[in-house]
Amino acid sequence: MRVLNVVLFGPPGAGKGTQAQKLVAKYGIKHISTGQAIRDEIGAKTELGLQVEDFISKGSLAPDELVISIIEHYLETHHDNSGTIFDGFPRTTIQAVEFDKILAKRSESVTLMLSLDVPDQELVKRLLLRGKESHRADDSNEQVIKNRIAIYKAQTEIVAEYYKAQGKYYAVDGIGTMDEVFDRLSEVMDRFTNK
Ligand code: AP5
Ligand code: MG
Repeated sequence: MRVLNVVLFGPPGAGKGTQAQKLVAKYGIKHISTGQAIRDEIGAKTELGLQVEDFISKGSLAPDELVISIIEHYLETHHDNSGTIFDGFPRTTIQAVEFDKILAKRSESVTLMLSLDVPDQELVKRLLLRGKESHRADDSNEQVIKNRIAIYKAQTEIVAEYYKAQGKYYAVDGIGTMDEVFDRLSEVMDRFTNK
């Protein structure tokens, strides 16, 4: 059976984490967020965490090699073939190219990219709201949030072209209730699963 590898894509605050949880529950696949993996390392004060803390708190990207090693480790330690949602990865074209190589070694490939479209002003609103309660350093002020969005446009948005060229790109409107957005994503997912 073909392994379902889903790249969940979109700007900061688009709802990747929120929707990933719902997709995991419905489709019985796994979920890895590179952002969460990095925050866990920072929280545990590991060497890797200390190396990247500064990048993250300013809203910049972590180095490609480091993020790729997180993904490699994840794949090596998760052997079952139910499939995975990759949330926030790949975020640069270099990561996308490396990801294809890593998956090819396992006789796998990216099945599809699901992209959440949300306009900037809504992203800022959502993240400022979350920042009031969350302890995420990168939600703490509007400047850092705007920097994350600017970095997304400068370095990450282009990754969509990589998957468009492979005929794997599917975008949905990320505005609406969480359930409405989920229904849109499910409609695409259902074309790739037996659900
Ligand atoms: P990461 O953790 O991936 O953060 P992000 O992309 O900035 O996005 P968020 O997690 O903030 O938002 P989300 O899209 O998951 O939305 P969520 O569901 O939380 O990355 C953090 C950092 O790690 C990066 O900046 C970078 O430094 C580093 N990093 C990570 N991956 C990397 C990589 N591959 N390469 C290099 N560096 C990397 O929702 C947001 C809020 O909106 C929540 O409060 C939620 O409740 C609310 N919300 C969700 N849906 C809706 C809705 N439909 N209506 C209203 N509100 C909603
Ligand atoms: Mg997230």
